[in-house]
Amino acid sequence: MTIEIIGTGRALPPRRVSNGELAERIDTSDAWIRSHTGIAARRIAGEETAASDLGIAAAREALNLALERNRMAEQTPEDLARTLDLIVLGSTTQDYYGCPATSCLIQRELGAKKAAALDITMACSSFIYGLETAAALLKADPRRRRALVIGAEVLTRIVNWEDRGSCVLFGDGAGAVLLEKTGPENRAGPDGEPGILRTILGADGSGWEHLIIRRGGSRHPLKKGEDAVPEVSMNGRAVYTFAVAAITGVIRRMMEEERILPEDLALIVPHQANARIVQAAAKRLGMPEEKFYLNIEEYANTSSASIPIALDELNRSGRLKRGNLIITVGFGAGLTYGGNLIRW
Ligand code: ACO
Repeated sequence: MTIEIIGTGRALPPRRVSNGELAERIDTSDAWIRSHTGIAARRIAGEETAASDLGIAAAREALNLALERNRMAEQTPEDLARTLDLIVLGSTTQDYYGCPATSCLIQRELGAKKAAALDITMACSSFIYGLETAAALLKADPRRRRALVIGAEVLTRIVNWEDRGSCVLFGDGAGAVLLEKTGPENRAGPDGEPGILRTILGADGSGWEHLIIRRGGSRHPLKKGEDAVPEVSMNGRAVYTFAVAAITGVIRRMMEEERILPEDLALIVPHQANARIVQAAAKRLGMPEEKFYLNIEEYANTSSASIPIALDELNRSGRLKRGNLIITVGFGAGLTYGGNLIRW
């Protein structure tokens, strides 16, 4: 059976912080950040905003667009939310530590009464893992029909603002897609019906320390009276090397195994971590950089939200058209990686 994306949405906090503005507070410069990462600005959420707030807003946008673009029995986003069977949220910055799952807060706010809720914490690979998880759960039971997959992050709350090598990289935002189980079994070739055709998922736990929030878990719990906050720390060089190999490997394997030629692909939508990582992967693959969609200049790295934000931009602008074949590809803490082959 086919699992199709029938709506997309995104939500970005209004406050845009340029590299220049950061350089007033941190020992860095616009020239360094641009030349090393491709980033020019990021959005920073207000203190009152948590991941669920951005996730809810992105989800509502996806429900609205689905109603606008498809002939549906439901009249309002609230009607459509009541038909959801599942909400999967990817996030590294959940509203609460450990429990409750932030997807439950989103489920309540949307009024998605019959939906199960599930958080996925695979860092920047969460959306790719989440899409496959949702698609598999829809396929597993004939009674399940619709799922929301959301990536929502307030990363600026967990960065170490004293580490200029990492704090300049991240931004806040959310993206969402609405999935619906539609037609019969799909094929990956150049023709065929829209849907998620194939997913590759992987992990290399030997790199677990390269991107980590050390404090706050059961290994190093925060103790009363201690002045320590959970913060991301990163071995940038190691992540860079892993990322280029992971992106290259996933794309190459997907294309070989599904017998796809570069010209069959309308676009590759990579996780937006660093433009240089994408450029290096394009070079290794012998593919033009223009095949890869990049919006990192404006939003920086929004982790699990970066791919659904990009999909929504492409969908609303009409750059993605029905029938287009695309690959999403990502990597993140864990270390983890993966990609989805999707016919739009
Ligand atoms: N501004 C100015 N100078 C800086 C900054 C900054 N923000 N950060 C580092 N530097 C300096 C360093 O101090 C160093 O100076 P030195 O040579 O005098 O010692 C110099 O720049 C080079 O530092 P490197 O760390 O070696 O810089 P590199 O070229 O490796 O680039 C970067 C760093 C951009 C972080 C790169 O390693 C990278 O992109 N890694 C992957 C990061 C990534 O993708 N993370 C997220 C992935 S997973 C996820 O999305 C959660």
